[in-house]
Amino acid sequence: MAVEETLPPVGVHGMGHKIRRKEDMRFLVGKGTYVDDIKLPNMVYLAFVRSPYAHARIKKINVEKAKSIPGVIDIITGEELEKAGLAWIPTLMGDKMMVLPTEKVVFQGQEVVAVIAEDKYAAWDAVNQIEVDYEPLEPVIDPKKALEPNSPIVRPDKNSNLVFRWEAGNKELTEKIFKEADIVVSQDFYYQRLHVAYMEPVGCIAHYDPVSGKLTLWMTTQAPHVVRTVFSLVTKIPENKIRIISPDIGGGFGGKVYVYPGYVVAAYAAIKLGRPVKWINTRSEDMKSTAFARDFHIHGELAAKKDGTILGLRIKVISDHGAFYGDANPSKFPAGLFSICTGAYDIKAAYVEVTGAYTNKPAGGIAYRCSFRVTEAAYTIERLVDILAHELGMDPAELRLKNFIPPEKFPYKSALGWTYDSGNYPAALKKAMEKIGYYELRKEQEEKRKRGELMGIGISTFVEIVGAGPADLFDIVGIKMFESAEIRIHPTGKVIARFGTRAQGQGHETTYAQIISEILGIPVEDIIIEEGDTDTCPYGLGTYASRSTPTAGAAAAVSARKILDKAKKIAAHLLEAREEDIVFEKGKFYVKGYPDKYKTIQEVALAAYTNPPPNIEAGLEAVTYYNPPNMTFPFGAYICVVDIDKGTGQVKVRRFVAVDDCGNIINPVIVDGQIMGALTMGFGTSFMEEIRYDENGNIFGGSFAEYLIPTAVETPKWELDKTVTPSPHHPLGAKGVGESATVGSPAAFVNAVVDALWHLGVKHIDMPIWPWKVWKVLREKGVAS
Ligand code: CDP
Repeated sequence: MAVEETLPPVGVHGMGHKIRRKEDMRFLVGKGTYVDDIKLPNMVYLAFVRSPYAHARIKKINVEKAKSIPGVIDIITGEELEKAGLAWIPTLMGDKMMVLPTEKVVFQGQEVVAVIAEDKYAAWDAVNQIEVDYEPLEPVIDPKKALEPNSPIVRPDKNSNLVFRWEAGNKELTEKIFKEADIVVSQDFYYQRLHVAYMEPVGCIAHYDPVSGKLTLWMTTQAPHVVRTVFSLVTKIPENKIRIISPDIGGGFGGKVYVYPGYVVAAYAAIKLGRPVKWINTRSEDMKSTAFARDFHIHGELAAKKDGTILGLRIKVISDHGAFYGDANPSKFPAGLFSICTGAYDIKAAYVEVTGAYTNKPAGGIAYRCSFRVTEAAYTIERLVDILAHELGMDPAELRLKNFIPPEKFPYKSALGWTYDSGNYPAALKKAMEKIGYYELRKEQEEKRKRGELMGIGISTFVEIVGAGPADLFDIVGIKMFESAEIRIHPTGKVIARFGTRAQGQGHETTYAQIISEILGIPVEDIIIEEGDTDTCPYGLGTYASRSTPTAGAAAAVSARKILDKAKKIAAHLLEAREEDIVFEKGKFYVKGYPDKYKTIQEVALAAYTNPPPNIEAGLEAVTYYNPPNMTFPFGAYICVVDIDKGTGQVKVRRFVAVDDCGNIINPVIVDGQIMGALTMGFGTSFMEEIRYDENGNIFGGSFAEYLIPTAVETPKWELDKTVTPSPHHPLGAKGVGESATVGSPAAFVNAVVDALWHLGVKHIDMPIWPWKVWKVLREKGVAS
């Protein structure tokens, strides 16, 4: 069916309609405005000298040659920033990080000196002429060794490499259950270091107006309001004199929540020089220095009865945080929401322990298309469940069906303390099994195995936790995690709505408009959505961790309903009826029983300004700061079929069925797009992507020549389906979806590969499953052809 045929007629497009994204027109014709598209009069350019060492003392910096290059305006070192109190800034997790170093460098690629020049060519020429004399120090690369007593210390301001030690669950009960269990399976997993590899590297333009004292920053940030607050606290510039504008953003995926040194140096230089300063990372600078994701060394254990009943879960993690603890987690959760690791299963007891280590690598620990470490959690439990099934000789689907939290047990309190709002896991898995023809595939696998062919079937039945707040539990630097929506209806019935979130490709301009359209009956094309300007939009915590629909989407619904309440009063006045007798349907108000005599929402909007009832204020607008009562818990059942080439170790993903449940859907086309994109990222994670370091801290994976991301050629065809289990507490019954498939899919891919090889004695292969890794295993097992 052509896309056009699936579209509803022009007019009101509320929830559930497959309308094309309003923002696509400007993106498809190349008319988006990204930071690097903005050119201000008199603008100068900033570039950084970066450290070639992972760990080294700075003995001397010689800038003389660089200064003499025509066009060079200024050179800024850590010493200068220190005098301004800006050599270090706070991180979102209560640590601090260097802007520019004064004493030593702590990772390869770290910003060391900033050059400001008339154009970027002069800036880069000068960068190449700056001589930094380093004394190399022993680098700390392995986080396990970093925690040993004799390890060199990463940070000049600390006397240990321990970032935190955090635990959740009931240790004693879990130990008791493990002792009583018939079977315990255990496995080490390394969830590798990743870069989000967005299309647009990070950057900013800083502009300072000395007359008004206002600092304006155009910035690639997913959380403009929080960044403004942090900037104000650090620089002491009053918050109302800082304006942060996030224009169009070419992908964020968590990587643009972080506050980068470039933002701070650009702002400092703009104030110092009185000229706008532009800083844009090159691709390889970005890969080497911006925030990483994952990097969890996991030891997982699962205890069960002989019949497959899962009893207990125990997990120990060492997490590598690089040189600064800059994770983008809510403050109270040092390891993010990793404690969702009991997944979809009714498990009596669980205990989790996470120890964080500093190493000589870039900082980050960002929620890469993931609600704060949920990806690591889903991967761990879904791999362990598969290992248990294999050890018991049970079908992995049957084992899951036996252990799922039953649908009637919701709301369900997990052993690690989360209250799942809703779920129907058997329905999703059964749908996926039916769609893929699960039992026929198992028969085919049996036949193929007899012929020595390698075919695997991998399942992942993950649970997500998205939509932070609630505000009493979640905060970022002390700011409660609510979300805002302001809707304003003009006299002619046209709408502008502003939000504290900031899309980076998720389609908020369309879906938020659909929510408002659903409630107020105003056509989507009459609703303009604005995000990302701290001067005009209400305060919000930003877009990451699939929180926009559960929080800002809810705020939009509540604001629209507030407007509807007022509009009803105005309609009653116009129709000379009692408010209780007014019925609202598809954009029209009428008196009960008289549908033909009506006033449209547009007529009511006009009356709000021209003829409001005597006891009611003029205007038609509302603002909401929504504090969600709970998180939402989207889930899914993914099944992957792989064939493995014994000659090359190449894994071919033959089929991948993804059944997702994100509650009520606002826009099915956008949801499918989100799932396909996230599946592709999960595929990249599973088979291609990794940032590694050698023993000296040299990066491998610092450019797209080494950091392989899937193109259309490698990407499998995704087969999508849905179940719908509405969230009971969300005003629209919706749950987030953006990250579900990145969270859920890696376990399905890896489970499929191991399923193909288990009979050869293969229990696990760490991601990314490159062909050579499989081929090496096949050779060891004597089956490589
Ligand atoms: O926070 P972020 O926008 O990244 O994630 P999200 O809330 O999961 O939303 C991603 C996109 O999918 C947005 O445009 C949502 O409005 C849309 N969506 C939807 O149409 N229906 C849902 N139930 C969930 C999300």
